Amino acid sequence: MLTDRFGRSIEYLRLSVTDRCDLRCTYCMPKGFKGFEEPAHWLNFDEIARLVAAFARLGTSRIRLTGGEPLLRRNLAQLAARIAGTPGIRDLSLSTNATRLARHAGELKAAGVSRINVSLDSLDRACMEQITGRDSHAQIMAGLAAGKAAGFAPIKINMVAMQGVNDDEIDDMVAFCIEQGFILRLIEAMPVGDSGRNAGFLDLREVQARLQAKFDLRPQALELGGGPARYLTTPNGDANIGFITAMSQHFCATCNRVRLSVDGTLYLCLGQEEKFEFRPLLRGGASDAELEAAICQAIELKPQQHDFREQPHKVVRFMSQTGG
Ligand code: 5AD
Ligand code: SF4
Repeated sequence: MLTDRFGRSIEYLRLSVTDRCDLRCTYCMPKGFKGFEEPAHWLNFDEIARLVAAFARLGTSRIRLTGGEPLLRRNLAQLAARIAGTPGIRDLSLSTNATRLARHAGELKAAGVSRINVSLDSLDRACMEQITGRDSHAQIMAGLAAGKAAGFAPIKINMVAMQGVNDDEIDDMVAFCIEQGFILRLIEAMPVGDSGRNAGFLDLREVQARLQAKFDLRPQALELGGGPARYLTTPNGDANIGFITAMSQHFCATCNRVRLSVDGTLYLCLGQEEKFEFRPLLRGGASDAELEAAICQAIELKPQQHDFREQPHKVVRFMSQTGG
């Protein structure tokens, strides 16, 4: 098992398959952003599969496909099938904005993606357009329906709660997720890049107290995914709401993940600069043993925690570059 300097087991790899996206969510990527990685620098599927296998031999058991928007990467289902079939990988999931999910849900499920997280910050067409920069409502709703029909379980909805933007829609989103059988996760905007810093941070502790009283929610005893969300559940247990409070109550002490960006850079923390470049090794003829040694060396670089509150201007790269 990979263990970092602070005793945390690193068993979860978030794998960005593209830094591009068909949306421009205000908190993630600035409008008109052009600084995308050149295709020649994207790891190809063979390189990704080799690296995933090396991680898996060292104890990584869970992989999430992310981006950017992962469904923009051609033939993603082929990559998913290779990852799902890698010895040691027990859980393959996907984070998506769902704009293209209607087209791809079936093949991804068949390839071995078992569960999905969908970014959905509003249910109102105009508000969605304001946040995502595009009239995306119909496509996303169709994508969600297709995800449900394909049998992904669970489907989690990620809502970045922003003051003065969508905070008045939180209760509607709770009701929508209860009705649809989705797990809602409310997320505090993090100061990742200028877009993240300008998002209208909302402290979710107050929201949690209010929802807890209104919907008679109680702490969820069971783990629901092994991530940082803390869950509350309805009295009859049929709905769960998670809170990802990276800012107001950070959870770095139990961080179990690292992020590989599309160009083969392993970022050890969303909120810090520590990184390790794998592309030169993969393209320079490194052996499997050398790859494994490099992974162990990279994990040693994992910092103890982010400094989002102490140094909110530190991270200049955007979320889509690191991998969400
Ligand atoms: N703060 C918090 N979450 C963010 N995401 C992207 N940018 C930010 C940010 N600045 C998350 C959203 C989205 C996923 C792709 O990444 O939850 O759903
Ligand atoms: Fe795209 Fe997700 Fe970023 Fe929105 S948050 S711009 S959907 S990568």
